[in-house]
Amino acid sequence: MRLLTGIKPTGIPHLGNYFGAIRPALDLQHQGDAFYFIADYHSMTSLFDAAQRREFTRGVALDWLACGLDPVRTVLFRQSDVPEVAELMWILGTMAPMGLLERAHAYKDSLAKGRAPSFGLFSYPVLMAADILLYDSNVVPVGRDQKQHVEITRDLAIKFNLTYGETFVVPEPKIRDESAVVPGLDGQKMSKSHGNTIELFGDEKALRKKIMGLVMDSRTPAEPKPDAEQNLAIQLLKLVAPAAVALDFENRLRAGGLGYGDLKKALFEHYWNCFAAARARRAELVTNRDYVEQVLRDGAQRARATASQVLARARKACGLA
Ligand code: ADP
Ligand code: TRP
Repeated sequence: MRLLTGIKPTGIPHLGNYFGAIRPALDLQHQGDAFYFIADYHSMTSLFDAAQRREFTRGVALDWLACGLDPVRTVLFRQSDVPEVAELMWILGTMAPMGLLERAHAYKDSLAKGRAPSFGLFSYPVLMAADILLYDSNVVPVGRDQKQHVEITRDLAIKFNLTYGETFVVPEPKIRDESAVVPGLDGQKMSKSHGNTIELFGDEKALRKKIMGLVMDSRTPAEPKPDAEQNLAIQLLKLVAPAAVALDFENRLRAGGLGYGDLKKALFEHYWNCFAAARARRAELVTNRDYVEQVLRDGAQRARATASQVLARARKACGLA
């Protein structure tokens, strides 16, 4: 099994990224060959500050490593260190119907918000298809919001294979039901672009304040709450606390007698503990700049070795070589 997933360096990773993509990807890394990367080319559609891109790119690498990516086994690399992906994007672009790309979420959302989308944003799914197909990936662990992009990738792979002969592996998305869409501070999908995130790492005081500031309704603590499973703090607690603990809080909220303040306090404690080991590892890694750079250089070399073979196969199939 060849696994591949990417995270854009557009901000600091949050619980949505962690439970939607990072954790599922790390849980699978010993079951196959994993290629996990930092999608810095993709970040260019929404981030226009070079220094920030560098900073966030290093940050995402640190986060992958702190959360348990094993760089000996798993290939961790920067997308732009493998420029072969840009050539494959062109090749796949010639197979991508305008209508298919016009239906893609990122582009549609941008139009709906009245922005003027760039060619980069329009072609975003084609670059993502190139990312996936360039490594013969068959399993792509992502959150539900990326399902459509993986489906576009499948369409392009199938179309290329039909036109030029069997060349690409057709991948499958792998989406975990329980964390397919992690809700943010406002109950909407947690996303860097919605400003409603709880970051994995950061200042304790600020993060406590964020969690204690979760908006609940005005029912008194004593009132039973038959809709307890829909409570935002309960939903988040289910991710960061042991199942039995989260269930106990849910039952107490349903029965009445548990105040929202106490619930949020418990949520903060479990969230903080859940990342304690990763936080300690990150603090250690942060002081070791050379190590992280070395991991990325080594990853780039290994990624390129595979990428150049697959690209050569694609070039040959379509008559470029
Ligand atoms: P963001 O939406 O914050 O910009 P990215 O687009 O960089 O996040 O997403 C990186 C990965 O994290 C993708 O696989 C995506 O599906 C997953 N992801 C992001 N937000 C969530 C969420 N709220 N719930 C589940 N998965 C998510
Ligand atoms: N588009 C993905 C996101 O916004 C990031 C990404 C880029 C990706 N290339 C990928 C994810 C390839 C999985 C596979 O989250």
